[in-house]
Amino acid sequence: MFGQLFLTLSMTLALQTSLPADIEKRIDALLARMTLEEKLGQMSQATSMRNPIAEEIKQQIRQGRWGSFLNAGLPEDRAEAQRIAIQESRLGIPLLFGRDVIHGYRTVFPIPLGQAAAWNPGLIERAAAIAAREASTEGVHWTFAPMLDVTRDPRWGRVAESLGEDPYLTGRLGSAMIRGFQGGSLREAGRIAACAKHFAGYGAAEAGRDYNSTVIPENQLREVYLPPFQDAVAAGVAPFMTAFNALNGVPASGTRFLLDRILRKEWGFTGVVVSDYESVLEMVQHGFAAGPAEAAQKAVTAGVDMEMVSTTYFDNLRRLVEKQNVSIASIDAAVRRILRLKYQLGLFDAPVRPAASVQTANDARGIAKELATQSLVLLKNDNGVLPLSPSVKRIAVIGPLANSPVDQMGSWVMDARPEEVETPLTSLQRKFGAGRIRYVAALRNSRDTSREQFNAAIEAAKASDVVLLLLGEEQILSGEAHSRAFLNLPGAQEELAAEIAATGTPMVTIILAGRPLTFQNVAAKSAGVLYAWHPGTMGGPALLDVLTGGVSPSGKLPISFPRAVGQIPIYYSHLNTGRPASPGELGIPLGSPVNPEGFTSKYLDVDFTPEYPFGFGLSYTTFEYSKPRASTAELTPGSSITVSAEIANTGKRAGEEVAQLYIRDLVASVARPVRELKGFSRIRLNPGEKRTVSFTLTPRDLSFYNESMELVTEPGEFQAWIAPDSASGSDVRFRFRANTNRQ
Ligand code: BGC
Repeated sequence: MFGQLFLTLSMTLALQTSLPADIEKRIDALLARMTLEEKLGQMSQATSMRNPIAEEIKQQIRQGRWGSFLNAGLPEDRAEAQRIAIQESRLGIPLLFGRDVIHGYRTVFPIPLGQAAAWNPGLIERAAAIAAREASTEGVHWTFAPMLDVTRDPRWGRVAESLGEDPYLTGRLGSAMIRGFQGGSLREAGRIAACAKHFAGYGAAEAGRDYNSTVIPENQLREVYLPPFQDAVAAGVAPFMTAFNALNGVPASGTRFLLDRILRKEWGFTGVVVSDYESVLEMVQHGFAAGPAEAAQKAVTAGVDMEMVSTTYFDNLRRLVEKQNVSIASIDAAVRRILRLKYQLGLFDAPVRPAASVQTANDARGIAKELATQSLVLLKNDNGVLPLSPSVKRIAVIGPLANSPVDQMGSWVMDARPEEVETPLTSLQRKFGAGRIRYVAALRNSRDTSREQFNAAIEAAKASDVVLLLLGEEQILSGEAHSRAFLNLPGAQEELAAEIAATGTPMVTIILAGRPLTFQNVAAKSAGVLYAWHPGTMGGPALLDVLTGGVSPSGKLPISFPRAVGQIPIYYSHLNTGRPASPGELGIPLGSPVNPEGFTSKYLDVDFTPEYPFGFGLSYTTFEYSKPRASTAELTPGSSITVSAEIANTGKRAGEEVAQLYIRDLVASVARPVRELKGFSRIRLNPGEKRTVSFTLTPRDLSFYNESMELVTEPGEFQAWIAPDSASGSDVRFRFRANTNRQ
């Protein structure tokens, strides 16, 4: 028995260890046979095969002109293109099909920002595995996800695709997605390569305007923007994608600092680096390259292996190699990485297959519902208006987001089908029967300003026991190149809310949006507020379960919600400043007879705090946190400390809670944030039940970059909180004692 186990184990190990060496030999042999043109073809990714594949493209595939396609073709086109590449090109090198499988393929999960609100890496991993399975069935090998850009700017349209404002949360959840897409090995059936994007700093676009420049000091870059990418390398992510932005003046597709020094040398990344869409050519627009040839030279020498869409590599690298401006060694290194990825994916060994298409499966819809449920954040619940009481007989469902399948899917859903989406309206009608539901969209879409349907909506509200008002942003208001300067509910939605509130029927507002919005007026008039993001295919059933009390809401905000656009960037892990405002120092409205007082860091016309802090989210039950305890008063190099707290469900319902561990380094050679997230744990508690949650910290968790850009942990005093959000909780103190700053 033991012998058998040992044999199986050693065979598995042998297989794993012999594979890479074998791959390298096969790559050597292939490289030796490739012409420079064929090499440059491998380094080129095209976006269209036309539909169906054009003769010209078929011919190019036979000639080895393209190594990869993105977002191209139907499954049958991909299958045929692959057949041509394998059977009719000189060397039979298979194509690599990349696609934006961002939050699901056929089954749509909540937008990434919504997924982040679930704070549940295990569930996110399962969702990504389903997306991989569906995509790979239809001939996709590689997704351009996860997006690991930390962002503190809800104006930026791509905040929807982000995992929020915090590097630790982004790193944990992004790594879970990578594991879900890639599995234990890229060769596993139903797995695809992930892609860590956009490297780096893209989420800090100035003024939240997409593609805008970013200016990030190196310590902030290393502490905030880079860690999720380093986590991705540790999680074994296959390729990296560069970003569109110029970081400190250098476009991300031409930066040796990021691509060579940090990614390759410091982190030891050996995978493929792909540019973003035409971002190599855009270096000309940036004013960083005089023309396409210089752009190609700068990108390839910085370490971009594959050029997405623009053709500066194919058009210029031959001449650049001949003139010795680019070494053939750097071309070979890039091609080696690309071929290695194809081998790792098993593409060279896969038989030519006919196209297959995805069948929607129950497990996919089940996970989509669970993830959407956990992503819902309860922001307000006066007098327990939620869950809806059984005495509620007549329900008015009002608003442009109540029955809008496309909008509820959010951005990046090119393979989904709106007819498979369950909207809040259809779920409510199924549960309560159409007779008990009065539905009025009231506005044609979220931007509509017409009041034509307002009377019908008011009548429906008057004739009901409760109003569910579904407001927000339609699909096209967030995502790439969809930044906003105002974050209010667009169109006449605020007026609609005011009219409905005036009927006196209790109103629960449910917001479906791609970003944090500012909606104080509406919240003030609502008895309850649920934030639902763009919840995807199963948003309706998820909302129904929460509204009717089948499950308590348990989502927590992955990003601070501002009170006003003027507060942006607003984030919990800010520095204290020399003049911090005290909690009571709220804004004094301009025009008020009171003189603005106090020379502290605040605003005159709005409170300095966020509307809802990072990590915040209510439940139908209540949780009480004990004061945290530390396992030791003093941490030393090489040791660890455990911080724990007891959490009790003091309410009447079962619920899940996400407990969050924060720390603060009180005095350091570089001022440290007032709080930093270092751990979290989602627990389920029945009424009356208590559980101790514990987190272990090592000196590495207390480290930061000093003025010389060294990662250090300095001796001194620290605070630690275990809290329900970033703005509350009590702390415990401990010290780090060491003779040097090294951990
Ligand atoms: C986006 C990427 C995306 C690529 C391919 C670009 O415009 O920035 O995130 O993966 O297009 O669609």
